[in-house]
Amino acid sequence: GIALSAQASDGTSSSSSATGSLVFDPDAYTELTTTVTDTAGDDHEVTYHFWKAITYVAAPVDEKYQSLNVSVPVEIDGTAVDASDAPILFANSVGGYMPSSVADATGIGAGGGGMTGGGAPGGAPTGSASATATASASASASAAPNANANTNATGGALSSNQLLALAAGYVVVEPGARGRTLTNSAGEYYGVAPAAIVDLKAAVRYVRANKGRIPGDTDRIVSAGTSAGGALSSLLGASGDSPLYDTYLEELGAADASDAIFATGAWCPITDLEHADGAYEWNWGANALGTGEQVDQAVSKTLRSQFAEYQASLKVKGLGGFGTLTARNYDAYLVERYLEPSATTYLAALSDADRATYLAANTFITWKNDRASFSWDDFLTHVGARKKTVPAFDAFDLSTGENNLFGKGTTQARHFTAYGLKNDTTGVTAKRLAADIPEVLRLMNPMHFLVDKPNPGRTKHWWIRLGTNDSDTSHTVSANIAAAAHTLGDDVNHLYYWDQGHGANTDPGDFITWIAKVTG
Ligand code: DHB
Repeated sequence: GIALSAQASDGTSSSSSATGSLVFDPDAYTELTTTVTDTAGDDHEVTYHFWKAITYVAAPVDEKYQSLNVSVPVEIDGTAVDASDAPILFANSVGGYMPSSVADATGIGAGGGGMTGGGAPGGAPTGSASATATASASASASAAPNANANTNATGGALSSNQLLALAAGYVVVEPGARGRTLTNSAGEYYGVAPAAIVDLKAAVRYVRANKGRIPGDTDRIVSAGTSAGGALSSLLGASGDSPLYDTYLEELGAADASDAIFATGAWCPITDLEHADGAYEWNWGANALGTGEQVDQAVSKTLRSQFAEYQASLKVKGLGGFGTLTARNYDAYLVERYLEPSATTYLAALSDADRATYLAANTFITWKNDRASFSWDDFLTHVGARKKTVPAFDAFDLSTGENNLFGKGTTQARHFTAYGLKNDTTGVTAKRLAADIPEVLRLMNPMHFLVDKPNPGRTKHWWIRLGTNDSDTSHTVSANIAAAAHTLGDDVNHLYYWDQGHGANTDPGDFITWIAKVTG
């Protein structure tokens, strides 16, 4: 790592510039004002200091992405606040494993991942999910925070987290990160795995190296992200201070500091990618595509059996005293632990008339003693079309975003499972996966840090959320992170949002309250 050098700042821009200094300049902010609507619908005037586009590594590959923004509240509803010891929300806006830059943001919550334009791998995520978030930014006379802060698909939910955190008096750090589509003039893909996680770790190291200069408590960093960003957030939490990333971090000139974080928030994490094809078929194998077509059932069945083997190898226990999770009991576990309670919460909040209407339209649900119950098969029918074809992640024709994520050099897309490679339709002749693939998979998968040899530097507090209608990946992916962390004795807060799709964040206020609780 690069030691901090206390170079004088030029006073006009961040001291952490192309010169390579990683010293945060406490004075290099602009003062902005924004209105945050809380989850009760009340508006709050927040004045905050905004540090823009600080390059967080001494030897950046691409500063546009390897930079972060910092927002620190100084006055809320006319009352001065001191955030110098407040928790730090570390909110990434990565979507689709695409590049994510905050460099052009004009205020908090305006950073953008690659999903903002609606271009999603394997289908566009539902925009409606983020519309349920209740925080919003509006421009004020003194500043113009991005009025679109809540309108993008996956970033929308996060903007809500960021704004609510600011209004709660927390420091908000928004890091950018390289993503899978970036190429240099030689045609080399420089944002493929593990670039994004290395960048986020470097950003955490920057924050921690600047303890005392950057406002906030650098020992209470809480990460947040959605989808690919949720995957990276859970990985950031699981892999804290792992030496496996050291050479990558050194290459970038990352600050010499811990990259462990205190708590992790992850919404619909798209992770455990090398096992996701099997998990997907276990979950959605019986569901037809949106076109009404069934996927290849022989392929589906083979993948499903791979999941059974993998799940047995994990030896993780379900929450609530459920016992070891297997492919045979996982449906009952999901129904009892997550899906029925999710429907119950949803139905209990409705008026009697609305509940009756919902139940009349969804007769698969039994409503008795104020509780919902139903079968797994009926739940699958209720969700309906699966979003992805088979295999969902390592496509035989190398067409998924994940194939690109595991690209290398000038190769845009590669297989990352033996089964995908074996069935390749693009003319790949290799009999074995590329030699670097196992290591890259390890660097990208939080499960590797939670099972077998658990990482002692991991976060011990987990907030995990997923919409019940989300078929971007298997419901077991989130549940396995939760179960693995729970098996290690970590504090896990995990629930599913009833009838919500990909990217949903319907309880952002509860997340803010949870941060106060776990960091308090
Ligand atoms: C995202 C969605 C996907 O379906 C996927 O495979 C990877 C990422 C996302 O929304 O970030």
